[in-house]
Order: sequence, then C-alpha cells, then structure tokens
Amino acid sequence: MGVKRVVLIVVVGLGILTWAYSAGWVSGGVSQPIAFPHKTHLDLKLPCAGCHQRAEKGAVAGRPPTSLCMACHAGGDTKSAEIKKLRSYGEKGREIPWQRVWRLPSHVFFPHRPHVVVAKINCQSCHGPMETLTKPPATPLKTLDMNDCIACHESREKAVMAKATTAQAHPKAARSLLNDCNTCHR
Ligand code: HEC
Ligand code: HEC
Ligand code: HEC
Ligand code: HEC
Ligand code: HEC
Repeated sequence: MGVKRVVLIVVVGLGILTWAYSAGWVSGGVSQPIAFPHKTHLDLKLPCAGCHQRAEKGAVAGRPPTSLCMACHAGGDTKSAEIKKLRSYGEKGREIPWQRVWRLPSHVFFPHRPHVVVAKINCQSCHGPMETLTKPPATPLKTLDMNDCIACHESREKAVMAKATTAQAHPKAARSLLNDCNTCHR
C-alpha cells in the first residue's frame, strides 16, 4: 500500500470519527431518563437478578419494571427530583424508557441463561464492577470481543474433555460445539 493511500485512509477515518463525535455517537455515550445509582441499591444487598430477572430465564437480562421500583419508592415525601420523575412514570403506569448500553453486533447471539445458571459465571466477570456506580454508565465498563468469548469456551471445553477421560467415557461424547461459528452467529 502506498504512502499516499495510507494518508488518505487516515484522513478519511479521522473525518468520520469527528463527525460521529459531533453527532454524539462516540463521545457522550448513552444518557438515561433517571439517574439510577447501582451502588445505593447493591448496598441494600439486592441481588443482580432480583432486578434483572430474565437473566436466569432466557437470552435477555432485561430491565426492572417500574412497579418493582415503586414497591420501595411510592410512599412518603421526597425532595429528590429523580424520585419525582420515577413516580410520574409509576403513577401513569408507564415503563421507564431505559437505553441499552451493552450491545453486540446483530449477527451475534448471546444468551444469558446458560452463562448465569448453567455455568454460574458471575455478572461482574463480564460487566465489571456495577456495584460501584453512583450513576448510570454512559458506556460499558467492560466489553467482550470474539476472542474473549472463544477463550473462555475453549477452557470450558478442555475441562469437560478432561472429566470425560477420567470417567472412562468416550472423549468425543463430551466434545462441545461451543466454538462452532453458528453457535454464536445466526
Ligand atoms: C428494595 C427497595 C428499593 C427498590 C426495589 C428500588 N430502590 Fe431506589 N432506593 C432505595 C433506597 C433505600 C434508596 C436510598 C434512599 C433514598 O434516596 O430514598 C434509593 C435511592 C434511589 C435513587 C436516588 C435518589 C436520590 O436522588 O438520591 C434513585 C434515583 C432510585 N433509588 C431509583 C430507583 C429505581 C429507578 C428503581 C427501580 C429500577 C429503584 N430505585 C428500586 C430503595 C429501593
Ligand atoms: C434495584 C434494581 C437493580 C439492581 C439490584 C441491579 N440493577 Fe442493573 N440496572 C438497573 C437499572 C434501573 C438499569 C438501567 C439504568 C442504568 O443503566 O443504570 C440497570 C442497568 C444495568 C446494566 C446495563 C444494561 C444495558 O442496557 O446495557 C447492566 C449491565 C447491569 N444493570 C448489571 C447489573 C449487575 C451486574 C447488578 C448486580 C451487581 C445489577 N445490575 C443490579 C437496576 C438494577
Ligand atoms: C458471559 C458474560 C456475561 C455474563 C456472565 C452476564 N452478562 Fe449481561 N451481557 C453480556 C453481553 C455480551 C451482553 C450484550 C448482549 C447483546 O447485545 O446481545 C449483555 C447484556 C446485558 C444487559 C443489557 C441487555 C439485556 O440483556 O437486557 C443487561 C441488563 C445485563 N447484561 C445484565 C446482566 C446481569 C444482571 C448478569 C448476572 C445475573 C449478567 N448480565 C451476566 C455478557 C454477560
Ligand atoms: C467466562 C466464560 C465465558 C465467556 C466469557 C463467554 N461464555 Fe458463552 N458459554 C460459557 C459456558 C461455560 C457455556 C456452556 C454452558 C452450558 O454448559 O450449557 C457457554 C455457552 C454459550 C452458548 C451456547 C448456549 C447453548 O446452550 O446453546 C453461546 C451461544 C455462547 N456461550 C455465546 C457466548 C458469546 C457470544 C460470548 C461473548 C460475547 C460468550 N459466550 C462468552 C462460558 C463463557
Ligand atoms: C463464542 C462466540 C463466537 C464464536 C464461536 C465465533 N464468533 Fe465471530 N464474533 C463473536 C463476537 C462476540 C463478535 C463481535 C465482537 C467482535 O467483533 O470481536 C464476532 C464478530 C465476528 C465477525 C465480524 C468482525 C468484524 O470486524 O465486524 C466475523 C466476520 C466473525 N465473527 C466470524 C466468525 C467465524 C468465521 C467463526 C467460526 C470460525 C466465528 N466468528 C465464531 C463471537 C463468536
């Protein structure tokens, strides 16, 4: 590749970045309708899956329904502007329009249940220290790329194979399909 071509690519790349930045796609990240603090709630010892209930049931972890928030926040006086906002959603019976922060490309399939329930991987090992957040994260604290997914799947596969051999089972019976392309790409 010639030098001119490299320069052209860099210049165009920077142009696109600057444009994306000014359009708010890169820099600011996501902003949420209510300044929800994870820390305050995790200090109360609420479990992650108590609010993200679908993580143990299906592919998507989900966000808590407004009615769950209102179970604690409906009564009493409050000076907090954030709680007032919460109550106005709750009183109208509306869900809070939370925005997605973690998102894989649409060609990748990621199911929560096998990771959380079957493999018992804790949420933070993929999401980072959510319990420390005093406001919603604008960008993911931690991300996973394809190599991270595959590395963990490989170590799992080896462990399963080793167990199968010691149990005198046919090692091939234990061969998992975790790292076939179409396990994750559908
Ligand atoms: C188990 C009870 C409980 C549940 C469920 C709960 N909260 Fe809270 N929340 C608290 C307590 C306790 C505090 C700290 C004291 C306070 O500010 O009322 C708090 C604080 C907050 C604050 C900070 C208020 C401020 O301005 O300092 C916000 C915002 C908030 N909660 C939103 C929510 C939302 C949104 C939900 C639902 C996703 C929710 N809470 C669910 C108990 C709860
Ligand atoms: C009291 C309810 C509550 C508890 C408990 C709670 N969360 Fe959340 N979580 C929320 C709400 C509300 C949002 C949306 C606002 C935000 O991003 O802070 C959220 C957002 C998230 C997101 C971002 C989702 C996205 O759209 O990309 C992740 C990841 C997450 N929580 C992980 C966790 C983990 C891990 C724990 C336990 C350490 C946990 N949460 C405990 C209520 C809760
Ligand atoms: C093995 C890694 C891994 C573990 C463990 C994990 N997550 Fe996730 N989580 C992800 C990935 C990857 C995404 C993005 C998925 C996508 O875009 O399809 C995600 C997305 C989310 C989202 C936003 C989208 C949605 O599904 O609603 C929430 C909320 C969330 N996770 C909460 C949790 C909670 C709570 C736990 C623990 C009970 C947990 N996650 C455990 C990797 C993980
Ligand atoms: C820390 C380890 C770990 C990480 C990181 C991880 N996985 Fe997994 N994954 C597992 C284990 C263990 C299983 C098998 C669970 C079982 O035995 O059913 C699994 C199963 C799966 C399955 C198969 C579900 C089924 O039963 O059909 C898919 C799809 C998958 N993972 C996608 C992903 C993707 C995509 C990523 C990265 C974004 C990822 N995983 C990251 C450990 C991990
Ligand atoms: C364990 C899950 C997993 C498996 C298995 C897997 N991928 Fe991926 N793949 C991902 C994730 C997650 C991404 C998105 C993040 C990234 O680009 O690293 C991705 C991204 C990609 C991309 C897009 C890269 C880009 O720059 O946009 C291609 C192409 C791809 N994978 C091909 C493959 C092929 C071919 C295989 C089989 C040899 C495969 N993948 C197996 C999880 C997986």
